[in-house]
Amino acid sequence: MNNQPIGIFDSGIGGLTVAHAIKKILPNEDIIYFGDTEHLPYGEKSKKAIQNYSIKITQFLLHKKCKIIIIACNSASSLAYKSVKKTAKKIPVFNVINPIVDHIVKQCSEYNIGVIGTKATIQSNIYETEIKTLCKSAKVSSLTTPLLAPMIEEGFINDDISQTVIANYLANKKLANIEHLILACTHYPLIRHKINEYYKGKVNVIDSANIVAKHIAEQLEKNDILSNSKKNKHQFYVSNFTKSFEESANFFFKEYIKLEEVNI
Ligand code: DGL
Repeated sequence: MNNQPIGIFDSGIGGLTVAHAIKKILPNEDIIYFGDTEHLPYGEKSKKAIQNYSIKITQFLLHKKCKIIIIACNSASSLAYKSVKKTAKKIPVFNVINPIVDHIVKQCSEYNIGVIGTKATIQSNIYETEIKTLCKSAKVSSLTTPLLAPMIEEGFINDDISQTVIANYLANKKLANIEHLILACTHYPLIRHKINEYYKGKVNVIDSANIVAKHIAEQLEKNDILSNSKKNKHQFYVSNFTKSFEESANFFFKEYIKLEEVNI
C-alpha cells in the first residue's frame, strides 16, 4: 500500500501547483495526475456535471491503484467532495478547502477574510460555511474572479494586462478592509507574488498549495502510508491533449513533463 501512487486531479492544469508542492515536500511519492482538459473550465459548469466528471476521474485513479485521492481543484472540492468520497470507498480523499480553513481558523478571532475563486466555488459558499462553523466571529467576503484562471493559463502573469486585471478585482469594495485573502483556485498560486505586490504586505495572502501539501504529508505520516521508494515515477494524464496545454503544464509544474491523453 505505502508505495502505491498518490492520485491528484483537477479540471485542467491548475492542480499542478498542488502536485508540485507535494512533490517538493514528499520526494519519495509517485504521483498520478489527471487534468480534465476536455471539460474545463469547471468553474462555469453545473454541480451535476462537476460531480459526474469527478466520479469518472476517481474511478480512473482507483483503477491506477492510487492509495489516496486529492481533489486539487477548488470547484470540484466545493461541489463533488462527497461524490468522490462515496466512489473512492475506503481510499482516503482530500480536498483543497479544509486544510486552508483549518489553517485560517487556528487562532479564531474577528478576522476579516477575503476569498477569491471561480463562480462554482464562490457561489457554493463553501469557504464561508466551513469557516463560520469553526469560528463564528470571522467575517468572510467572497468575490468571483473568473478572468484570472484563463489569464494565468495564457501566461499573462508579469505584465500590464495581469496587473490591470488583478488590481481591478482586488479593488472591489467587497474586499475592502480584509486582513487575510484565500486564493480559492489552484491556478492562483502563480500570481500570489503579484497579489502580494498589490497589497504591499498589508494583507496576509494565504499560500494554499503549500498548506495543502503540508496537510497531505501529515496525514500520510499519521496513517503510516508514506512511501519508502526512491524511484518515484510520475504520470500526467489529460482528457484532451494539445501542445499548448503541454507548454502551460511545464510552466505550472515548474519542470518539463510529458502529458498523455486518456479517454475515461
Ligand atoms: N483549477 C480550478 C479551481 O481550482 C479552476 C479552473 C476551472 O474553472 O476549471 O477551481
